[in-house]
Amino acid sequence: MTLLTVEGLTKRFAGVMAVSNVSFDIAEGEILGLIGPNGAGKTTLFALLSGMIPPTSGRIVFQETDVTRWAPHRRCHRGLVQTFQLAQAFPDLTVEQNVRVGALFGARRPRAGLPPLTVDEVLAVTDLADRASARSNELTLAGRKRLEVARALAASPELLLLDEVMAGLNPAELSEIVEIIRRIHARGITLLVTEHVVESLFQLIDRVLVLHHGQLLFNGDVRAASQDPAVVEAYLGRAEPAAGAPA
Ligand SMILES: Nc1ncnc2c1ncn2[C@@H]1O[C@H](COP(=O)(O)OP(=O)(O)OP(=O)(O)O)[C@@H](O)[C@H]1O
Ligand SMILES: [Mg+2]
Repeated sequence: MTLLTVEGLTKRFAGVMAVSNVSFDIAEGEILGLIGPNGAGKTTLFALLSGMIPPTSGRIVFQETDVTRWAPHRRCHRGLVQTFQLAQAFPDLTVEQNVRVGALFGARRPRAGLPPLTVDEVLAVTDLADRASARSNELTLAGRKRLEVARALAASPELLLLDEVMAGLNPAELSEIVEIIRRIHARGITLLVTEHVVESLFQLIDRVLVLHHGQLLFNGDVRAASQDPAVVEAYLGRAEPAAGAPA
């Protein structure tokens, strides 16, 4: 079943077409990837989906309801929840208190088929249980990224939008966040994940959207994306020969 439909979504900032006539669907239970160069419009697209900014034109249909003009809190109550590229946790609250705040803003009805996660379950799923009483500003970067995911997860999403939760992490931390995203998916939550860490993202997804200058350049199988000349040219690049390899 289709969970989200985006039709002709457009956002113009003064002279900049940040998102230009973008259309796609997300199926229930899918993990969909979103990639593209810096400034391609990924964060703007997320802000449009979560309602942080209004579109210039176009339509967003979530669970068969047109939510294009809904305020962010109303979408969140419905189960359309995002993380922010810049972590937004309250620095002086503990990790657990921050997760409780997320839960307060969350869905006002049980998710389809499954009960919402408790605060303890959220802390366990995001590997934060042993840091529950730490203040959030005492966490490492990886911990702050996981808290950003935890706060959103506590809001009981049907569709969770993750904006660069892997940026700046080392290989061990990347494996951990990939595992956490798998656990969230196993709870029946649909995900749209944007990342520059393509190697880790591609372990999670079958289908990818590629944005370039606000336009949807590609929508399809990840393996096909890495062979697509326009995608390679705009973003993925060609594999460089190893240093010292014969020319
Ligand atoms: N509030 C705003 N006012 C004016 N221009 C904006 C605003 N927000 C974003 N833009 C512009 O819209 C374009 C898309 O930016 P956006 O942040 O969505 O890109 P992105 O794909 O998330 O990039 P990154 O990979 O660096 O996070 C850029 O040209 C940016 O400068
Ligand atoms: Mg961004």
